[in-house]
Amino acid sequence: MYRQPFPRRLYIGGILYLPLLLFSTANRIIAVHPKISISPSGQSIAAMSSQSQPPSPPLAKKVKHKMELFGDVRVDNYYWLRDDSRKNPQVISYLQQENAYTEAIMSGTKKFEDEIYAEIRGRIKEDDISAPLRKGPYYYYARTLEGKEYVQYCRRPIPNHDAPPSVHDTMPTGPDAPPEHVILDENVKAQEYDFYRIGAFKVSPNHKLVAYAEDTKGDEIYTVYVIDAETRAPVGKPLVGVTSYLQWAGNEALVYITMDEILRPDKVWLHKLGSDQSNDSCLYHEKDDMFSLDLQASESEKFLFIASESKITRFVFYLEVSKPEDGLRVLTPRINGIDTSVSHRGNHFFIQRRSDEFFNSELLACPVDNTSATTILIPHRASVKIQDIQLFSDHLVVYEREQGLPKISIYRLPAIEEPLTSLQGAQAVQFIDPVYSVDPSESQFSSTILRFSYSSLRTPPSVYDYDMITGESVLKKIETVLGGFDASNYVTERKWAAASDGTQIPISIVYQKNLVKLDGSDPMLLYGYGSYEVCVDPDFKASRLSLLDRGFVFAIAHIRGGGEMGRQWYENGKFLKKKNTFTDFIACAEFLIEKKYCSKEKLCIEGRSAGGLLIGAVLNMRPDLFKAAVAGVPFVDVLTTMLDPTIPLTTSEWEEWGDPRKEEFYFYLKSYSPVDNLKAQNYPNILVTAGLHDSRVMYSEAAKFVAKLRDMKTDDNMLLFKCELGAGHFSKSGRFERLQDDALTYAFILKALNMIPTSGSALN
Ligand SMILES: *[C@@H]1O[C@H](CO)[C@@H](O)[C@H](O)[C@H]1NC(C)=O
Ligand SMILES: *[C@@H]1O[C@H](CO)[C@@H](O)[C@H](O)[C@H]1NC(C)=O
Repeated sequence: MYRQPFPRRLYIGGILYLPLLLFSTANRIIAVHPKISISPSGQSIAAMSSQSQPPSPPLAKKVKHKMELFGDVRVDNYYWLRDDSRKNPQVISYLQQENAYTEAIMSGTKKFEDEIYAEIRGRIKEDDISAPLRKGPYYYYARTLEGKEYVQYCRRPIPNHDAPPSVHDTMPTGPDAPPEHVILDENVKAQEYDFYRIGAFKVSPNHKLVAYAEDTKGDEIYTVYVIDAETRAPVGKPLVGVTSYLQWAGNEALVYITMDEILRPDKVWLHKLGSDQSNDSCLYHEKDDMFSLDLQASESEKFLFIASESKITRFVFYLEVSKPEDGLRVLTPRINGIDTSVSHRGNHFFIQRRSDEFFNSELLACPVDNTSATTILIPHRASVKIQDIQLFSDHLVVYEREQGLPKISIYRLPAIEEPLTSLQGAQAVQFIDPVYSVDPSESQFSSTILRFSYSSLRTPPSVYDYDMITGESVLKKIETVLGGFDASNYVTERKWAAASDGTQIPISIVYQKNLVKLDGSDPMLLYGYGSYEVCVDPDFKASRLSLLDRGFVFAIAHIRGGGEMGRQWYENGKFLKKKNTFTDFIACAEFLIEKKYCSKEKLCIEGRSAGGLLIGAVLNMRPDLFKAAVAGVPFVDVLTTMLDPTIPLTTSEWEEWGDPRKEEFYFYLKSYSPVDNLKAQNYPNILVTAGLHDSRVMYSEAAKFVAKLRDMKTDDNMLLFKCELGAGHFSKSGRFERLQDDALTYAFILKALNMIPTSGSALN
């Protein structure tokens, strides 16, 4: 878990959709979420605002809170806004006032915002299905319905499922086809809740049962239910207070992970169906609070892997699925600074291993019965990072990164009984855009078909089946974009900006070629993240067309701290080099201005979560450079949060930001932490969002940032705060209600740029 911008996603019908049966190494997919915004009580402010007199912003009261360390005194007048119970009436009232003020300021353009919402929603094909995944005797897929916020999890029997799969297979759907069966309908489940999200959906190996993890609040604390896949009848009692890390160990047992009081995944449990949760046996307890547990299944379905990881160290245990009572065995030992991820095929475990020396990872194999007899299959390469691997009975697929782009290399493996000593003849998959995004997708282990998802800034999310024998690839699904979208009208490109130290920073760009002039007069939205080695690869977002089709240039700055250029890219943007993340972003903005993609007067910026820290930091450093900024669930109170081990993620992230209980880090974090660096100066227009139940970045960070900024800033630009009172880190949970966030963001940006037509009407 980390301060993540968006859940990992596959889109169908415009919904951020969680892949059904998550492929093992892509499993850290945390979810989506949210809920209905509570209508603010301050109607009077909203009513006032439609007249010429602008409403006055809420002013948070000041209560002096002194914090002292290393002889340094900080006074936080808004510390009281942090309320762990999330029930303090004074705090809730302040948040409601902020929401009402935002509504009041935006009320004059509400009609336009509603039109943007309708425009965005109008691009979605509301009734749709995901690419069916062949698994055993069924096709599994998710279905969305006209007007419904959530998905249905479905399956359909495959008439002759023993026939070998082909990339040309299609799921039969005619009147003679076996009927569709809805295993679980989120729309029904969600009725009782403001927020509803399923974080894991796991079919038992014999396809008879389904275990799923449900969050009804947005706080990412789940309840696991087991149901009969056919009758939907509950099986046993639910498991409560657990994470969404969940796997079957055979047909009669589940393995899951629970969290400690700071929501750190610390214990892994074995649950026998039918027994009481209180009787479950704890397989491992990670007591070190810098570490969190992770759980994956091998593609071969023979092993579960339980990993304990910090930001720089990762070690793995295995559990044989057929003998869960044997418990865990060490696969890779705990060695400080060594990070391993593993998988299995035949007589071998495959180990991806990273160290300071081999920073971009090497790939090893070892016999299952002797994990110390390792052989190097792919040696370390300074220019190519091994990101992930996926195993098949005859193939090894390696997801790599080179020069800022994802790559897929495929190797044919020797017969299963033969020794594994080396690999030869990598085959590379070719992609169609100059910059793009590729993600692993669940595939069938026993087949020769690799399924992956693909997207670019102009290519909607696509699912391909690639025949690893013939090299043929077949598009199985591409998200439908209604409303006359034509990808050939959009240009996407890569540029490189020089950072202050000369490092070349990649930028991905997209625009509508008939609308932009590229003479410095076009508006731009520049997006950034730059933390946790996360790669913010350029992918498609249909709602973004509402900006592109109004002549915006959209760009992503792939700044240091992210993983786009390999491990060192990350290392050079963390700890005592964190400020590279911010200065890289500023360098990208200046480059884009110099190259006439935009001007300061029309440059808008956006970041979420740790990307919200980026936005807060660059606003303090260069408030003159931007016209408007959007900071979503921003991690802006870095120093105070990282000094407080009772806040979730603090302890596990001392290896990310540094431990400010050490003087050097204290003063370094203080030098950029956005709340600590707000100044009496002019700032651009700013929109800040938060979710009350967010457990990754507390809502109070955003609230404190806004309250203090209001008090200090010297300009009359907009400063708006929207706190979802019924949601967590990923905003609302419904696919349409979530679009309201985009509509608000775009209306805010267009308002700041004075681009809202006086008629108040949208495109054309
Ligand atoms: C708990 O385990 C004990 C011993 O294995 C068993 O006798 C008992 O029935 C179990 N209780 C429940 C509620 O599963
Ligand atoms: C396991 O492999 C190591 C390293 O090759 C070797 O020294 C050891 O003898 C092997 N152990 C067994 C039980 O084969």
